[in-house]
Amino acid sequence: MSTKASTFNKLFHYGQRANKNGWGFRRRICKYLLRIIYQCEIDLAADIDETVEFCHNGFGIVVNARSKIGGETCVQHCVTIGDIHTDGPVPKIGRGCFIGARAIILGDVNIGDNAKVGAGAVVLKNVPSNCTVVGIPARIIKENSECVTASRSDSEID
Ligand SMILES: CC(C)(COP(=O)(O)OP(=O)(O)OC[C@H]1O[C@@H](n2cnc3c(N)ncnc32)[C@H](O)[C@@H]1OP(=O)(O)O)[C@@H](O)C(=O)NCCC(=O)NCCS
Repeated sequence: MSTKASTFNKLFHYGQRANKNGWGFRRRICKYLLRIIYQCEIDLAADIDETVEFCHNGFGIVVNARSKIGGETCVQHCVTIGDIHTDGPVPKIGRGCFIGARAIILGDVNIGDNAKVGAGAVVLKNVPSNCTVVGIPARIIKENSECVTASRSDSEID
């Protein structure tokens, strides 16, 4: 993870502070700049730690207002984190996770600490800590960096 925050990340986290402190005008400006310049819809009310890094200037990322993303997590471009049906439950993502480009994480899903979600994965079930998941629907391919067998992946992802 880079130590120098990008303009996008600074703008997003400033928008979060504006939202938290009730600075309505500044919150709206940040929201529209994020939408227009970076084509992203990360709700400023979402519980996103200040140390979360949105890579590639957060391009195309959509995050539901009720979602949670833990500290030191890296989110690549075009990721979607949201509900399956309107007002349904939304994902909670732990600390130190990596979410690959174009991954889609939907519904009542917990992603454990230090988990990795592969590019293009569609995650509909819980992912234990320290595991890597890929594919549609997502399945576990690694646990603590060690490959796991197909039968184990199928049975343990929820
Ligand atoms: C998921 C990921 C983190 C796994 O990395 P890794 O631990 O080094 O995994 P490996 O490369 O050893 O791959 C393990 C297996 O999973 C497969 N795999 C890896 N990533 C995959 C993915 N996103 N979708 C489907 N299968 C994938 C590999 O083909 C390999 O299969 P095999 O054992 O049958 O050959 C990585 O592949 C990934 O998707 N990173 C996202 C990168 C990204 O978003 N980049 C954006 C840059 S702009």
